[in-house]
Amino acid sequence: MPAWLDDAVFYEIYPQSFYDSNGDGVGDIPGILEKLDYIRDLGCSALWLNPCFDSPFKDAGYDIRDYKLIAPRYGTNDDIVRLFTEAHKKGIRVLLDLVPGHTSEEHPWFRKSREPRPNEYWNRYIWTDRWETWASGLKTILGEADRNASYVVNFFKSQPALNYGFFKPDQAWQLPMDHPDCAVTREAMKDVMRFWLNTGCDGFRVDMASSLVKFDDPENSGTAGIWRDVRAMLDAEYPEAAIIAEWSHPRRAIGAGFHGDFLLAFTDGSGSQSLFRDYVMDAENRVTGEDRSFFKKDGKGDIRRFLDEYLPHYEAVKDKGHISLVTGNHDIPRMALNFSPQELALAYAFIFTMPGVPFLYYGDEIGMRYLNLLSKEGGYHRTGSRTPMQWKNGRNKGFSSAPADKLYLPVDASPDAPTVEAQEKDPASLLNTVKALLALRRAEKDLGSTANLKILYAEPGKPPFIYRRGSFVIGVNPGKEPAEAPVDGLTGEPVYVLAAEPEPCMLERGLCRMTGQSFGIWKLRKN
Ligand code: NOJ
Repeated sequence: MPAWLDDAVFYEIYPQSFYDSNGDGVGDIPGILEKLDYIRDLGCSALWLNPCFDSPFKDAGYDIRDYKLIAPRYGTNDDIVRLFTEAHKKGIRVLLDLVPGHTSEEHPWFRKSREPRPNEYWNRYIWTDRWETWASGLKTILGEADRNASYVVNFFKSQPALNYGFFKPDQAWQLPMDHPDCAVTREAMKDVMRFWLNTGCDGFRVDMASSLVKFDDPENSGTAGIWRDVRAMLDAEYPEAAIIAEWSHPRRAIGAGFHGDFLLAFTDGSGSQSLFRDYVMDAENRVTGEDRSFFKKDGKGDIRRFLDEYLPHYEAVKDKGHISLVTGNHDIPRMALNFSPQELALAYAFIFTMPGVPFLYYGDEIGMRYLNLLSKEGGYHRTGSRTPMQWKNGRNKGFSSAPADKLYLPVDASPDAPTVEAQEKDPASLLNTVKALLALRRAEKDLGSTANLKILYAEPGKPPFIYRRGSFVIGVNPGKEPAEAPVDGLTGEPVYVLAAEPEPCMLERGLCRMTGQSFGIWKLRKN
């Protein structure tokens, strides 16, 4: 386990929209370089960059045409090496996004694979042997190649699935996992990883990590075997490198060798997992209107539903890897869509005081809003969470000097749109709340990734929710009414309180009392 990961707080950057250094309307790597001090001062110690490789951008870069080339719109390979070097000087690690499951239809491997006559790349992707649009439960595409076959896709039509074989092949076109051509696919992906690790990156967030072997068994053991082999390679050659899965099944992902996994609603082939995103953030329902997010003051949220799924994962992985909670990401509506600033602060306070390695999505620290926009680069409803970072008032909110109609996406033009500059000046701003919480997390190991979590009070529909981390008790009362709960005879000194009302929140002689919409951290008094 790379030791640095234990103290890490990640900042996710969607490179298109962070900071445009050359005035072409699109964010770039030199732009990220210019903002490293901002990221460090915020309290983040690691970055995850969404894919920044050469691509036709039919899925915002998750359709890679050349794994080893930085997309010209973001800069050059030298720029990213400079980013690794400068980030490291400031104590910041950098994860790239590894997309192992599919490439762009324009990748040279696919161009060869689609040719009518057999060649070295024929089996690099999954092709059926006839005219069909679904094959063995997999979505396949016709009419795009001269091959007398259809190809399997992982996501969009432009993202053909790489061939890692089938767990239990039952058709002639399905190769077994140990077929030499599948071994070549695996080695090709390790080669990509080595390429970037050799240039100085610190590891990868891994896209659709559970998707590699098709027709997996219920435990994804075929795909897990591939990752265990990757992990053995990392342990032997790059022991400081980290891999964080987009699997949404921490027990499986960490069992497969990942150092961490996100908790998102995500289908992993064995049924839909609906953890953090559904119960805590209720991301999709924020769009449809039936919001049950736990942190809403009038919400119908139930932290127990989250805990019932979270805790078994936590108990299973706590000594081996990290569960990552996120403030948001490039695929889900921003929480600010219908969270008030206070609700956002409560949610972040929870995320930053739970075990594991948290991820902060760019702009969430100021409460950037979800905008209703036309789809861009395959974003669909996700586009509204990908708008330019709002640095300051004035031209394009400080994101770019380009004319507004040349921007990658429009900036939030509302007069009260939050900006970094304004929030830096306001001690009570969300930005300063995030800074304070992250500073506290950095200062107190018991609030960090590894200290034990114990639930002290979590009753369905009855706030507050109270948990213990080492020598601290943490309480959150999202409801608008005051609430209290018994806590094991404990008493503590307040270390941090976020409350809209002046009456004190307290932890005294076994009772935790909280005002409406409040959050508190108490240091336990030694008897
Ligand atoms: C998950 C990524 O987060 C998403 O943005 C992408 O569209 C799909 N995987 C396909 O790569």
